[in-house]
Amino acid sequence: MNEGHWAKLKKAVDTVRSKLEGTPDVAMTLGSGLSNAFGLPEGGVTIPCAEIPGFPVPTIAGHSGEFWIGPLCGKTVLIQRGRAHYYEGNTIEEVSFATRMFALLGIPTLIVTNASGAINPDFCAGDLVLLTDHINMLGVNPLRGANIEELGPRFPDMSAAYTPELRALARAVAADEGIDVKEGVYVAALGPSYETPAEIRAFHAMGADLVGMSTVPEVIVAAHAGMNVLGLSIATNLAAGVDPNATLTHEEVIETTRLKGEEMRRLMMGILEKL
Ligand code: HPA
Repeated sequence: MNEGHWAKLKKAVDTVRSKLEGTPDVAMTLGSGLSNAFGLPEGGVTIPCAEIPGFPVPTIAGHSGEFWIGPLCGKTVLIQRGRAHYYEGNTIEEVSFATRMFALLGIPTLIVTNASGAINPDFCAGDLVLLTDHINMLGVNPLRGANIEELGPRFPDMSAAYTPELRALARAVAADEGIDVKEGVYVAALGPSYETPAEIRAFHAMGADLVGMSTVPEVIVAAHAGMNVLGLSIATNLAAGVDPNATLTHEEVIETTRLKGEEMRRLMMGILEKL
């Protein structure tokens, strides 16, 4: 990270901190189609990204993103609505800016959600999947550049980037709620074109169960900063070529997310209650 970026980050953190009463217990980054999963709960504050000095206004289809901070399921929760993707032309620093801000605010836990394509032949469209690990195929790492010691070490361990205890908690909540969840490895592809069937076969051989275009930069910076991370994915479609007769559309991704959104919301609320 360069000096200018670090200065921007500190400025953004100061501004957000001045609007908060305490440190949120958990930050939630809600992906495609899930950003309204909780509506606008009562009693919180909304901070548009555009009102945070230093915050890079991300190129996000539709809006520039906002944070809601308030009480939810007995916790103080920060919800990030609208994330920046690398394929949108944002720099990798911009993509991971919000997550770094959460870390500097002292938020101990990050829950990230996304939509993904199912590579594992045992998965179905609509499955909810707890992420166990990832493979970074973005060709870029958000920690590139000078390391900021206040954020974390130069060479952070990624052996347990997805906190096993949070996954166990999510499994327990899912069992209580009668929600079926699977577990799998997520590979981040650059996009925005969906993958080719040959790429999906290669990712399968590499050990990936799901493919998507987000999440990995955020998880790398969160793990770097020592945050606990839970990754939740909706497998919205079978990845390219898994069903040789199918074609992929963004509409299918949005529709499956809509159909599974309520179940995902129940799962997340149960997790928040038990955190
Ligand atoms: N590939 C990449 N990203 C995705 C997919 C996919 O099949 N589905 C939802 N996001």
